[in-house]
Amino acid sequence: MFRPLARTGFLPPTAPLLHLPGPFQALLDAVPALAPAYQGSGVRAALLDLDAALGYRRDDARQLSAAQQEALLSATAILMHLYRWNAVPVAPARFQERPDFPAHLHALFRDLSAAHHLPPCGTMHTLKYLNWRSDALPPGEPYHAAQVQAGQVRTAHNWHATPAGDDRDLAGQLDLWIQTFVLTEARGQAVLGAAAQALSAAHHHDRSALEDALADLHAAISAMTRQINTLMRFRVVRSDLWRVFIQPTFGWGLPVDGVPDGPVLEGASGLQLGGTQVADLALGVGFDSNLGRALRHSRASMTPPQRALLNAWEPHRNVIRAAVLDWGGSRARDAFDAALNDLNRWRVSHRERGAVYLRGDGREHVMASTGTQLDAGIPHEQAFRDLMNERIRETGARSVGQGGPHD
Ligand code: HEM
Repeated sequence: MFRPLARTGFLPPTAPLLHLPGPFQALLDAVPALAPAYQGSGVRAALLDLDAALGYRRDDARQLSAAQQEALLSATAILMHLYRWNAVPVAPARFQERPDFPAHLHALFRDLSAAHHLPPCGTMHTLKYLNWRSDALPPGEPYHAAQVQAGQVRTAHNWHATPAGDDRDLAGQLDLWIQTFVLTEARGQAVLGAAAQALSAAHHHDRSALEDALADLHAAISAMTRQINTLMRFRVVRSDLWRVFIQPTFGWGLPVDGVPDGPVLEGASGLQLGGTQVADLALGVGFDSNLGRALRHSRASMTPPQRALLNAWEPHRNVIRAAVLDWGGSRARDAFDAALNDLNRWRVSHRERGAVYLRGDGREHVMASTGTQLDAGIPHEQAFRDLMNERIRETGARSVGQGGPHD
């Protein structure tokens, strides 16, 4: 059940392609070329021109290889999000309108999203996990998540630019933001592996294997959360710029075409991070809180193998904890709680840092977050804290504590 994602976790199994054949290369090239307009008067006119030059390409797209189709899906998803928001800072009017997207690009995007069983909007997978390059990894080739390392990973197609003398360095800021998620998910691969080992040890009633796997799970969760905290620092990703220039592009907030009163689609949200969801499942953390339910709901924005992995875990999510409590002994109990505490300590620091980022420069700007709220106006710090606190309590409640019959 775990094999499809064993090597790269929730990152794609081959390094993202950086080039596409024929007319499709123009779509990849357009992403950085649109940057000045995205930071200025808006990208819509240029995207309509690009669409007219592209013309009907749906049959050509079907001839592409699987990896090429994924690269094209990522490019069209980025272009849809740029068209949807038009420019940053985002104008309040963008929240009310239902834009008519450029017809050919939109058709390609919808075909590819449907073929990949993804919703018709950008996701963590399409906007971030398919949008990086590494000096150490040839595009299109298989790799191992351990090879995805800080200092080597860069955003492949960056929709911001940094003109000479602009000390905001928005291109650098977007690059760091996308890197944060790619590197976190790379570290998440070890969480997947250790969690699977712990489950297997629990099923086989193997105490020493359970102890070892839980120690590995603790180490993997520590490494993943350390990776997030290293990059989620105010002097790395600037909290005065993030909410106005970096974050808005990732939200979507429109219903599916043809269902105007239906629920809005979230876009790329932290909810779609796979490594933390697997950690929750392995440690038996519930999904009954508001955030828990949103996490489950967000799986609709993951790829079929990612979704299948999480669904396969569901019936087993209390098995490791029950084994620890029943026959695991004190070493297993300590490792289990150490893993749970690290996950929860990260949730506390995410709450504190997130609140600062949401406050931003403290002025009225549109755009809150992606999954649970998508509003024009200043995001509600207390609502964010309440949501996070409920999840922190839900996580802490799974502690196995000290003592027990087998010590
Ligand atoms: C920079 C400031 C950040 C803010 C303001 C922020 C805000 C939020 C918000 C509002 C949610 C609730 C879901 C939603 O409405 O989208 C959320 C969830 C989440 N975010 Fe963040 N986030 C930030 C950074 C990060 C980073 C850097 C990561 C990881 C690389 C991350 C990972 C998550 C995860 C995993 C969830 C799901 C909830 C959980 O598992 O505890 N966030 N975040």
